[in-house]
Amino acid sequence: QYMKEITGLEKIEQQLKEKFNLQKVIVVPGNSDEERRVKQELGKACVSFLKKVVQDHMVIAVTGGSTMSLVAETMTPLNKKDCLFVPSRGGLGEQVENQANTICAEIAKKANGEYRLLYVPDPISEKAYQSIIEEPAVQEISNYIQNADIVLHGIGDAVTMAKRRKTPDEQIQKIKESNGVGEAFGYYFDKQGQIVHKVRTVGLQMEDLKNMEHVIAVAGGASKADAMESYFKNGQSNVLITDEAAARLLTASY
Ligand code: BG6
Repeated sequence: QYMKEITGLEKIEQQLKEKFNLQKVIVVPGNSDEERRVKQELGKACVSFLKKVVQDHMVIAVTGGSTMSLVAETMTPLNKKDCLFVPSRGGLGEQVENQANTICAEIAKKANGEYRLLYVPDPISEKAYQSIIEEPAVQEISNYIQNADIVLHGIGDAVTMAKRRKTPDEQIQKIKESNGVGEAFGYYFDKQGQIVHKVRTVGLQMEDLKNMEHVIAVAGGASKADAMESYFKNGQSNVLITDEAAARLLTASY
């Protein structure tokens, strides 16, 4: 508390809350682009916030990414009954340690919770999608995901994420041409927050977020400021956990 007053972070938290119309903003000192320690602090802040809101029998959906992997690293037992963790979507073609499935299993184990995983190729063709969603096992887990009580998610820079997912060149080109800047849940957004591209997959869809109690975005680093701005234009998240570098850029006009 004392530290925050000194660094003025509380003021920035308040400004961000107003700017993006959020219920809660937590800003940790530093720039996670430069120091892994700062990303760990984001993870810790996320774990402590989660502990405040989680209740018995809740379903918690988590995305992948290096930020979420540090949430997993810092997770400790939640001391709640029957909490179920699910990945927000199938793997998005990312490296295994960054995939939602991997992170979901690790978070659940450390939290002493249950978990269910979703193994569906990602992205998939329209034809495969239409038949795979008929599978009872896929439907069961999709139901958990779409009715989750809490979502923990990352936000990424559009082109960085497209490349990380080995997106075909013509799609990357399309994202660039339509001025895609931000990405979350496999959706790509332009500066105005319009969706310019979407990865077809099973699992969480943007519209599902509307019904969820706590949608918690965890993203930091100066390099993500524009991406975060684009996501929050139309974002459905109500909590943001970020770092000072991103927060200062996002509130520069205040
Ligand atoms: C991905 C999520 O796994 O992580 C994306 O699916 C998110 O929606 C990304 O943008 C963020 O990754 P990182 O490594 O920057 O935390």
